[in-house]
Amino acid sequence: MKTGAILLVGGMGTRLLPLTLKTPKPMLQVAGVPFTEHQIRKAADAGVSEIVLATSYKAELFEPYFGNGEKFGIKIKYAVEKTALGTGGGIRNAAAALDKCDQVVVFNGDVLSGHDLSAQLDFHRKNKAEITLYLTKVLDARAFGCVELAANDQVKTFLEKMENPVSNLINAGCYIFNRQVIEKIPANQVVSVERQTFPELLAAGISVFGYLDNSYWLDIGTPAALVKASADLITGQIKSSATPKHSGDYLISPTASVASNSSINNGSVIESEVYIESNCQISGSIIGSGAKIGSNCRITDSIIAPNTQIEAGMVVIGNYLGF
Ligand code: GTP
Repeated sequence: MKTGAILLVGGMGTRLLPLTLKTPKPMLQVAGVPFTEHQIRKAADAGVSEIVLATSYKAELFEPYFGNGEKFGIKIKYAVEKTALGTGGGIRNAAAALDKCDQVVVFNGDVLSGHDLSAQLDFHRKNKAEITLYLTKVLDARAFGCVELAANDQVKTFLEKMENPVSNLINAGCYIFNRQVIEKIPANQVVSVERQTFPELLAAGISVFGYLDNSYWLDIGTPAALVKASADLITGQIKSSATPKHSGDYLISPTASVASNSSINNGSVIESEVYIESNCQISGSIIGSGAKIGSNCRITDSIIAPNTQIEAGMVVIGNYLGF
């Protein structure tokens, strides 16, 4: 069985503004690499041979970094939507670029998860499903696509963002489609996979299964979540083969300069060419490449944009500066 993949990375990332003004959400740095790299490695680790990046917003920024995928152990192609086609339209458009394959893994470009993709693929085959949704359990499902399962793990209902959720199982943003099922999504139209495709395919009798996996799951769509994801990767709460090798609970680029009496911890990332003066405390934060931090600063759970200068003595807590 041959498995291809599509990575949905075309959204505007409005909840992350102003971080996404110049950089699309999937290219923002998380644990020292663009977030998308974690997902590409996850696909490669599960034996996926080829991945198509479904791009739209700032599409031109992906290929210079990822190229043809050689460096990442997977073949990478690009499908650009001149005007955004939505999540379903993006899947349909990107599928045209895939080589022949039996099934397609679709990743939302903004989910960091520890779920076992190989096990999800096995589950999909074992159940002879046409679509398999990765599900996770949350306390409050109101903000998500909510799924009701039958005893055999078949999805009975799929309801996007509702006031009184029918269950606490949510769509966790990684789907497996049998290749030919994607042809049922209308071409060249704006389509939402969550609001239109899943409910419509269920109503049409397509067999949709739910694979429940309650390991680490985080939607990185807000600044607070993005900085948490980065720190969790560095402290090892979630593993990714894209996280650069490091020892301890921090990652400091070899080209950064940190005064010996400054402390860096709780999953902080100090990117290339950063300069940190004396007596600073950096905790759970991302300091973007080329930033200069004056002496006696305290920076906690925050993101400092590349090339930003922070004056001596500043206290920055849960803030995002320089974007
Ligand atoms: P917000 O505006 O903050 O909600 O973020 P977003 O634009 O990323 O939207 P959302 O979180 O709903 O998107 C989920 C995933 O689908 C993200 O990885 C997006 O990049 C991606 N996505 C959303 N809309 C499109 C689209 O029209 N085309 C493509 N190719 N991807 C999309």
